[in-house]
Amino acid sequence: MLGLESSCDETAAAVLRGDGTILAEAVLSQEAEHARFGGVVPEIAARAHLAALPAMVARVMARAGIGFDALAAVAATAGPGLIGGLIVGAGLGKGIAIARGLPYLAINHLEGHALTARIPGIVASGAPVFPYLLLLLSGGHCQCVAVEGVGRYRRLGTTLDDAVGEAFDKAAKILGLPWPGGPHLERLAASGDARRVALPRPLLGRDGCDFSWSGLKTAVAQRVAKGDAAASDIAASFQAAVAAVLADRAAHALAMLPGATALVVAGGVAANGAVRAALSGVAASRGVALVAPPIRLCTDNAVMIAWAGIERLNRGLVDTLGHAPRPRWPLEELRGAPGQ
Ligand code: KG4
Ligand code: ZN
Repeated sequence: MLGLESSCDETAAAVLRGDGTILAEAVLSQEAEHARFGGVVPEIAARAHLAALPAMVARVMARAGIGFDALAAVAATAGPGLIGGLIVGAGLGKGIAIARGLPYLAINHLEGHALTARIPGIVASGAPVFPYLLLLLSGGHCQCVAVEGVGRYRRLGTTLDDAVGEAFDKAAKILGLPWPGGPHLERLAASGDARRVALPRPLLGRDGCDFSWSGLKTAVAQRVAKGDAAASDIAASFQAAVAAVLADRAAHALAMLPGATALVVAGGVAANGAVRAALSGVAASRGVALVAPPIRLCTDNAVMIAWAGIERLNRGLVDTLGHAPRPRWPLEELRGAPGQ
């Protein structure tokens, strides 16, 4: 399976065998091209995908040591995401499918994140079985999802304003750190004391598992403006507040999915040590495993797209070449196979 990812600011391609063995993978981050604008610029992203993806496909195919005629199918991210990038990846995927007479799979990016932990051999505790809880914590998404089968998802909660990675990036910017700020903020927080600065914990204890981060960000801005606290203490307090809220929301989400076999985290924020520690505490107290794929597969990549393609192809869920990329594409609207 050839997988292509181009929905945001990572250009990626991967070739997997049907059993999940990764034959070749490549990810090119556009971070440097967007950094001076302080965020992802859609038009720059689309052009960068167009410049990089065709040669990247040729490279991963060469490294995998197979020709296009050895492929069973082509899977490309078809949404949700920035439309320019989606058109580039889906268009290239369809082109290869037409040229080689292969099935085409239009993959929902969120389904890619949701199924990554099931790649055989990827997580030490073994592939989680359905149903499990997915906590998607990235720069663009902040959701609790019940993963009940391939193509079968229920969103249990989502953010009312910013994604959690966005909250990290905004707080980091207020603290004068470079974009994307999450890792910088974590480093600064390591030398700070969270107890010196009191910050709110939005929606903590509230019913359900929605999120809200804008009030916390505003509180950071007010505290910085006041000028009476060390940046490291503010960073530590911000991170502690986020971790506490995420733990609370995850506990609620697990209560909403009593049969959950595991708590799976994905997205760049899953790299954060304080967040991981808080979530492993929740998982342990609920008697489920915390499953965190390796960071390179938690952030945007094409391995997860190829794998989702394999899971769908195995269930006969192929798409037509008429499938148009969708900038908005809720997981609930996916087509699943009967059973699991
Ligand atoms: O999943 P991801 O790589 O990409 C997209 O969202 O497209 O997530 C990126 C987000 C950014 O907001 C970044 O600041 C955040 O994940 N992030 C972190 C850490 N590493 C990345 N946030 C907190 N702590 C980290 N160590
Ligand atoms: Zn993503």
